[in-house]
Amino acid sequence: MKHTKILGVIGYPISHSLSPYLHEFLAAKYLLSYHYYAFEVRSDNLPAAITGAKALGISGLNVTVPHKQRVMKHLDDIDEIATEIGAVNTIRFEYDRALGTNTDAPGFVKNLEFRKVELRGRNVFILGAGGAARAVIYAAKNAGASAIKICNRTLAHAQQLAQDFDAEVALLEQISQLSSGDVVVNSTSVGMSPNMHNSPLPEEFFRRDLVYIDLVYNPIKTRFLQLAEMIGAKTVDGLGMLIFQGAIALEHWTELEIEAEKWYDELRELLAKKMP
Ligand code: ATR
Repeated sequence: MKHTKILGVIGYPISHSLSPYLHEFLAAKYLLSYHYYAFEVRSDNLPAAITGAKALGISGLNVTVPHKQRVMKHLDDIDEIATEIGAVNTIRFEYDRALGTNTDAPGFVKNLEFRKVELRGRNVFILGAGGAARAVIYAAKNAGASAIKICNRTLAHAQQLAQDFDAEVALLEQISQLSSGDVVVNSTSVGMSPNMHNSPLPEEFFRRDLVYIDLVYNPIKTRFLQLAEMIGAKTVDGLGMLIFQGAIALEHWTELEIEAEKWYDELRELLAKKMP
């Protein structure tokens, strides 16, 4: 029998993670001898989890909230993209070394390519200044966005990010000064289940001629996306980015080309059913 390899995700809490369904599905499609588990790891156990993963011969881990930034100091190497973003969401274990990368940013870009949303030459307005915002800002910069404006509840967090990425701090009101076709991304957790009736942007700031992207995928159609749809704007939900970041992580672990586009509809259907 072929040796089965172990993959997984570490986070806290983790029981609601959709990643095991996503990876088990892809592993089956590509006839890969991999199993993928969700490991609940509290912050005080994070260093032990990395050491333990090496000792157990685990092949790869995804890293999710709240460990994406804190995990970095426990790794042996971090690639350029994760260093620039300042967050790791994927670890590959190789010869007793833990190597960190970030697939959130390329996952975000690939999903937008798939959904035919162009960032080149556009103004990108980002709501939120946490770890997810960092990956989106990096992605938007590299995709050729003409300006990046960060708007956040806590001004100091937005200022820090603006400085790190040479972006601008903005007020919500500035959304009315954006041009047709510009993009608004929600990278806050506002609207996430169980607070499904909240939107990070008040109703009066939605415009028909902008594109609205939510990173929240539970629920799939957030209040933010509902308000955008109601006014007739183009929207992109968070489930697609989840799929692409996972597929790119699997590429890192297997060195295969994983065509998420091919399985996109099937995966969306599966993940929607598994949504907690
Ligand atoms: P993640 O790593 O998923 O981005 P995070 O680092 O905790 O998570 O960041 C969460 C983001 O959502 C932050 O920008 C946070 O704003 P603050 O910097 O002011 O904390 C934002 N956020 C969370 N709850 C919010 C709320 N109820 N209203 C507005 N913004 C909120």
